[in-house]
Amino acid sequence: MGLLKLEVLFSNTARGMKPSPIRELLPYIKRPGMISFAGGNPDPMIFPIDEFAECSDILAQNGKEVLQYGPTDGYAPLKDFISRWMAPRMGRAVEPSELLITTGSQQGMDLLCAALINPGDYIIVEDPTYPGAIHTMRNRGAEFLTVPCDKDGLLVDLLPKMIESARNSGHALKFIYTIVNFQNPAGSTLSTERRKKLLEIAAFYDIIVFEDDPYGHLRYDGTDEPTLFSMDTDGRVIYACSFSKILAPGARVAWITGHKDIIRKMVLVKQGVDMCTSVVAQALVSRYCEKGYLDSFLPKIIAHYKKKRDGMAEAFKKYLPGYVEYDIPKGGFFFWLKIPGVDTEKLFHNAIDKGVAFVHGRSFYACGGGENCLRTCFTFAQEDDLLEGSRRLRAAIDGTRP
Ligand SMILES: Cc1ncc(COP(=O)(O)O)c(C=O)c1O
Repeated sequence: MGLLKLEVLFSNTARGMKPSPIRELLPYIKRPGMISFAGGNPDPMIFPIDEFAECSDILAQNGKEVLQYGPTDGYAPLKDFISRWMAPRMGRAVEPSELLITTGSQQGMDLLCAALINPGDYIIVEDPTYPGAIHTMRNRGAEFLTVPCDKDGLLVDLLPKMIESARNSGHALKFIYTIVNFQNPAGSTLSTERRKKLLEIAAFYDIIVFEDDPYGHLRYDGTDEPTLFSMDTDGRVIYACSFSKILAPGARVAWITGHKDIIRKMVLVKQGVDMCTSVVAQALVSRYCEKGYLDSFLPKIIAHYKKKRDGMAEAFKKYLPGYVEYDIPKGGFFFWLKIPGVDTEKLFHNAIDKGVAFVHGRSFYACGGGENCLRTCFTFAQEDDLLEGSRRLRAAIDGTRP
């Protein structure tokens, strides 16, 4: 087939697609000797491999169900566990009709967009935000309005003017997307006061809020903020969480909770996408959780990642004083660095030559920006590499500065 014909063949969506900036980094990261602060990967050294292997006895016990197609909304024992386990965070045990198991939170996001977004509709996102969200939303035809964040998260006071001007422009504004805890990439957490205000604004303008919370369980300092879902009194918050960061991303098991009519539409979309999330994966995760392993694993990874967070902070203090500006995140996976006067996309190529990888700032901005910023992940690299990677980063900055 000639190239010209293929161009005609592709959909508008496929023609407009841009590669995921983080997935594109994989070939660089796999180079021998490379220290990766790039992807938001958990530490594989701490994966609970033995416990997972033990839980595969679910196949001997219930293989006839586990190896069969499953319900689109999810494996019932897992839904039941999530509803009970999350009740303290959600303010109540959610009903089965309010809960959908998804193939990663990434799929939850996509199903939500498929259910709500027509091409040209607006979504309000944080500046910066998770590139995977920008990618999915863009694939579904969304346009973006961006709100800056500071160390207490989204600057909610800017919302009313933005919402009004969006509405005056004739575009439908479908939802506000926020990563409330230990934001990816900025590391910030939305303060309780701003959470209240955000919900007041959303209620006043009658807008849905999509609360994406894959890092909320991973707090290293301070006390938890209430979820927006638990503070919401009129069913406008859709809440997503995942086993990826607290257990194993290879399982591809996550969940999304919200108004039953929205969840129902997402179930209908999912029927045409993958029929159901792998029942084998759901059953393994479910058995792991039911045995109490998740509850014992969480304190272990929190202690492990806190040490790594401190390790990266120490390494920055040793090798990068005066070079970079940052706040120490109270949880999650990431440091967000500002390097005044340095274009971090240029820096990236020098850093790769020196043997350290990160994600440059532009990747996190839906409408441009972030030239002098970058994200480093502290959970994946091993302790010595946190130091050596920071030393290499300094050498790369020295080689990039004008
Ligand atoms: C904020 C945020 N949302 C969603 C996801 C997707 O996670 P999952 O592995 O559950 O698809 C990620 C992954 O890095 C993330 O950082």
